[in-house]
Amino acid sequence: MDNKRVATLTLDDGRSVEFPILSGTLGSDVIDIKNLAKLGLFTYDPAFFSTASCTSTITFIDGDAGLLYYRGYPIEQLAEHSDFLDVSYLLWNGELPDAAQSAKFKDTVTHHTMVHEQIARFFSGFRRDAHPMAVMVGVGGALSAFYHDSLDINDAEHRRISAMRMLAKVPTIAAMAHKYYTGAPFMYPKNKFSYAENLLYMMFATPTEEYQSNPVLVRALDRILILHADHEQNASTSTVRLAGSSGANPFACIASGIAALWGPAHGGANEAALKMLEEVGDISRVPEYVQGVKDKKYRLMGFGHRVYKNMDPRASVMRQTCHEVLKELKLENSKLFELAMELERVALSDPYFIDHKLYPNVDFYSGIVLRALGIPTNMFTVIFAVARTVGWISQWNEMIAEGDHKIGRPRQLYRGATKRDFVPVGSR
Ligand code: CMC
Repeated sequence: MDNKRVATLTLDDGRSVEFPILSGTLGSDVIDIKNLAKLGLFTYDPAFFSTASCTSTITFIDGDAGLLYYRGYPIEQLAEHSDFLDVSYLLWNGELPDAAQSAKFKDTVTHHTMVHEQIARFFSGFRRDAHPMAVMVGVGGALSAFYHDSLDINDAEHRRISAMRMLAKVPTIAAMAHKYYTGAPFMYPKNKFSYAENLLYMMFATPTEEYQSNPVLVRALDRILILHADHEQNASTSTVRLAGSSGANPFACIASGIAALWGPAHGGANEAALKMLEEVGDISRVPEYVQGVKDKKYRLMGFGHRVYKNMDPRASVMRQTCHEVLKELKLENSKLFELAMELERVALSDPYFIDHKLYPNVDFYSGIVLRALGIPTNMFTVIFAVARTVGWISQWNEMIAEGDHKIGRPRQLYRGATKRDFVPVGSR
């Protein structure tokens, strides 16, 4: 795969160095600058605009063409024909499961959805009004204290057991975070339900009533989970890899990913997008709000992406799901959804957004769908975290399985004070 092409760097002192150019199976070539430090030099790329941090075989994105593949399969095909647990199998194992493998995998995940009973008591340490993402960071990290019988990261079977536990238990913890916030009793998972259906059941069922799920809504949530399952080296995944590079246990690494996901520029965007719609309030205020975006007073949340400079392929799928759900729930004419569609229309036709290549991203539509499903705004990023857990753990496993990984340790451009001598407090 790698060829003999080189890139030559010539310094102003006359020194010249050659670096190999590496090619992947798809995507941009990369210049292997590993040996630059031997010259006493480092590259400077603070937000990783031009830096590939690892080799991976899991997910491919072409941001200009608007392509997203999991293990080579286009996201649109997976969203149309597969389900979240088969996609999880694909991300973890590299291949889609056959019927027997699929049944076994689903059985394994389904039979590990309950959490240690003491985890329920662990919740009471949180304030009732704690943001569910704060609870997810805390309880996610605490899992390593409950399931420490399989934490040898150099043992592939231990890694698999930890991964399956996380995949199975994260929805249970997410639903518990919601129930705790609302003061309602926790609902134990039910093995007869699919992954997405179980999540809706644990969030919305009560011990006093029969629970009836709606297949259109279950399918919509399953799609949200598929679309958010992995996205190569984004901020939270890179955080998981960096935490994992030190040898930290997988539960702690995933907790670090949940923390990184929380921010409004990343997984918090779906929550921020819904809050923005509520702030705009009425279609009549759209032109004024869009003008504020163009004047750079604030950003249009749910729009723009570091990698996609074309339509986010996940957004195209989510947009269709959004319309299906609104139709099913007869919400097409609700004020909030009309407002969202108007904002989308204006943004897609306004030269500012066209020139800046700002298209709606997946979180613009997923926020609307999640709201239609009755999921409270403070749970939006939690649902994203449930979906991304399999991506994080697959990327972590890939890194550890390589065997020769080193601790991630970026360098810096120091611009602080030069050496100076200590001055006693009375003389300062
Ligand atoms: N609204 C208005 N202007 C924007 C937006 C936006 N949402 N995003 C970028 N811009 C403008 C920005 O002002 C800048 O303009 P100029 O060149 O005139 O100064 C230009 O576009 C480039 O912005 P940037 O900040 O350099 O772009 P970035 O690649 O660092 O940012 C982003 C990517 C996703 C953080 C950004 O687009 C953003 O803040 N979007 C809103 C938050 C959001 O929806 N995030 C979810 C991303 S998808 C889910 C996920 O993967 O987590």
